[in-house]
Amino acid sequence: MMKVRDSGMPDEPYWESLFDIPLILSRLDIGRSHDVAELGCGYGTFTVPIANAISGTLYTFDVEPEMIARTVERAAGLHVVAAERDVMETGFGMQADATLLFNVLHCENPTLLLRHAAEALLPGGEVLVIHWRHGETPRGPGLDIRPKPEQIVAWAGSAGLKPIGGVVDLPPWHYGLRLSSHI
Ligand SMILES: C[S@@+](CC[C@H](N)C(=O)[O-])C[C@H]1O[C@@H](n2cnc3c(N)ncnc32)[C@H](O)[C@@H]1O
Repeated sequence: MMKVRDSGMPDEPYWESLFDIPLILSRLDIGRSHDVAELGCGYGTFTVPIANAISGTLYTFDVEPEMIARTVERAAGLHVVAAERDVMETGFGMQADATLLFNVLHCENPTLLLRHAAEALLPGGEVLVIHWRHGETPRGPGLDIRPKPEQIVAWAGSAGLKPIGGVVDLPPWHYGLRLSSHI
């Protein structure tokens, strides 16, 4: 299994106190997408609100069965398909209008992951990234493996993606990037 390093989670209420979720969805313009594919549902922190904000289906993948079970429980009645899948190893296996790499680009092979996310885009689609700011934050991977936005933009270029607009500020602790395919 190619589980993203340092991707363990604190308890659910604490994790979810660390994000302004409506602000993140709004600043990344998630509502423009129909179908969305997400790497790492975790507790369903973003799965559930995004499924509520889009017109299509949210497909989400995780390597931890208990994370999938929790997300399925919270997503009852919504258009959510949650499945066990090692996205690092096998890619998304589908295409969507947006692919989400939220809090995962500190993995060992970020360019491969960005390539998987790019390959999963329908024409006109976007890879949406959020990550912890590079500095003092209450959680997040060690600064030695935590990417800065300009590092992600450089990896994205190698994966055939370019940024749309600049770095998106997602207070209190995150930043975001919207990436589109060159073609
Ligand atoms: C830090 S958590 C972030 C969860 C969610 N994206 C969020 O921001 O709330 C990373 C999640 O990715 C999952 N994960 C790690 N490696 C994975 C892989 N290779 N394929 C699919 N999911 C993976 C972990 O099990 C964990 O639930």
